[in-house]
Amino acid sequence: MNNIVWHHATVTREMRQSQNGHKSAVLWFTGLSGSGKSTLAHAVEDRLHRLGCRTFVFDGDNVRHGLCADLGFSLEDRKENIRRIGEMSKLFVEAGVIALTAFISPLREDRQRVRSLFPHGDFLEIFCNASLEVCEQRDVKGMYKRARAGDIPEFTGISSPYDVPQNPELEVDTGHAELETCVQSVVAMLSRRGVISNAPDSSTLHSQ
Ligand code: ADX
Repeated sequence: MNNIVWHHATVTREMRQSQNGHKSAVLWFTGLSGSGKSTLAHAVEDRLHRLGCRTFVFDGDNVRHGLCADLGFSLEDRKENIRRIGEMSKLFVEAGVIALTAFISPLREDRQRVRSLFPHGDFLEIFCNASLEVCEQRDVKGMYKRARAGDIPEFTGISSPYDVPQNPELEVDTGHAELETCVQSVVAMLSRRGVISNAPDSSTLHSQ
């Protein structure tokens, strides 16, 4: 990039993290449409918020109304969608925030590209594992039915690929497990990795 010089902030990420009392990171939820990514991301955010963490959720359906309103669902457009979210979440991590992203992000290559933007340990991939059968049966938005009827082209899992993560930091069984069980395994992972220092058990939280 010509004639553009990176400006180094006086207030650093480390200073922000120490003020916040936790590290920043991106929790990258990936999975089929209807696998429960958004539900889980919002539930985890709610838990972290109550623990006093600074958080923000980027949600596929919402971001596509604004920042990525110009993009469709060709693999090329999805790549750009994921690239923008990756860069955006990098800024949030720099701002000391725990960013939670809920995008199908179907291609391994695109997820890998985002991962490579971050120092090791900052990008935590969470595979929301719900089978196509389960997602299609839920069909919350009625989209699988329309995709099967040929009304929605390039629909993930039907007429467009989804690469199952090979080495995610965490896999959650969003197809069968209770939401609370999934939330607890995400929070435990953050605790294990030192993103948050302690996670009181859920009984303590519910009484707050
Ligand atoms: S991604 O592939 O680029 O990561 P993203 O998560 O932003 O997708 O958007 C997925 C949401 O858009 C789905 O939950 C669904 O509601 C809607 N959608 C509309 N068309 C499609 C399509 N062809 N494939 C998948 N999802 C679609």
